Amino acid sequence: MTKGFRDKLGQGGYGSVFKGKLRSGDLVAVKMLSNPKADGQEFINEVATIGRIHHVNVVRLIGYCAKNSKRALVYDFMPNGSLEKYIFCQDGKFSLSFEQMYKISLGVARGIEYLHQGCDMQILHFDIKPHNILLAENFTPKVSDFGLAKLYPTDDSIVTLTAARGTLGYMAPELFYKNIGGVSYKADIYSFGMLLMEMAGRRKNWNEKWHVSNDSSSQTYFPSWVYDQFAEGRHIEMGETTEEEHEMVKKMMIVALWCIQMKPSNRPSMNKVVEMLEGSIESLQMPPKPFLYPQERPAVTNSSTSSNVSSSTCTDSTISVSN
Ligand SMILES: Nc1ncnc2c1ncn2[C@@H]1O[C@H](COP(=O)(O)OP(=O)(O)OP(=O)(O)O)[C@@H](O)[C@H]1O
Ligand SMILES: [Mg+2]
Repeated sequence: MTKGFRDKLGQGGYGSVFKGKLRSGDLVAVKMLSNPKADGQEFINEVATIGRIHHVNVVRLIGYCAKNSKRALVYDFMPNGSLEKYIFCQDGKFSLSFEQMYKISLGVARGIEYLHQGCDMQILHFDIKPHNILLAENFTPKVSDFGLAKLYPTDDSIVTLTAARGTLGYMAPELFYKNIGGVSYKADIYSFGMLLMEMAGRRKNWNEKWHVSNDSSSQTYFPSWVYDQFAEGRHIEMGETTEEEHEMVKKMMIVALWCIQMKPSNRPSMNKVVEMLEGSIESLQMPPKPFLYPQERPAVTNSSTSSNVSSSTCTDSTISVSN
């Protein structure tokens, strides 16, 4: 089915992804989990979660395999790969128009809205980032990767911190700091806000090197720069854009600023996000000044919290906390 696993599509925190073909001729992506020592709970979670999900903006799990210690998940193949290839400038060119970017952001918002509110169980993703947004042939976005997602009954909105994993740069502050509030679906809203800001600005919000070297003084944190521009009534220069494109981007940025509010209670629900993205720019209000990560952080009140946040991902553009 995968021709001896020769066609590798990529590698993530959980294992490798290979291209394959079913007997029917359909192309698939097979994700081989690299940690068969685990009790398989994560695998079963992912299968149970995705197997129940059907939405145009969520990637479809079409099968799985569990034999001895080997575990694999079989997904629809997405010919255009993942979103990070398109957000950031390559060879001085952007491959997607502002309108395409706007449509993709709306699709992602609808996919997450479905996970949060559209199915019987509330599904929290916990790792929304460009790498986990796959693009179908016609650039319809599909939210992928529910290895981190857990199932919760819809009325139990606060989950335990140990359940949380994620990628630095997209992780909500409450996953690091206990004094901010409980962990809920609002953590996904934060991650989506960071993604939305990167899509609108076509650049990274921050660079992990600033974090590692602790030298953020010379760099501008993009969302805080955007906030200041709007707050001071300044026009954001975007190169050659039509009036309509300019509004689309501005709308995405304002919605993103709402999503990355430090306090989870100040962030909108995904329903509201979709409504704001679809609505007119005149009906949008400016949010309060958001949490300015990574420069401005609240004091750590409980240093043990961060050790509960585990992840092993470390790719080109992500650094994750490990315990
Ligand atoms: N269904 C798919 N169709 C096409 N390509 C895919 C598919 N699923 C994954 N890929 C490719 O394989 C790469 C690796 O995916 P994987 O989910 O393992 O890692 P990741 O998304 O970079 O990180 P993480 O482990 O945090 O999710 C992706 O970046 C994507 O380009
Ligand atoms: Mg992934």
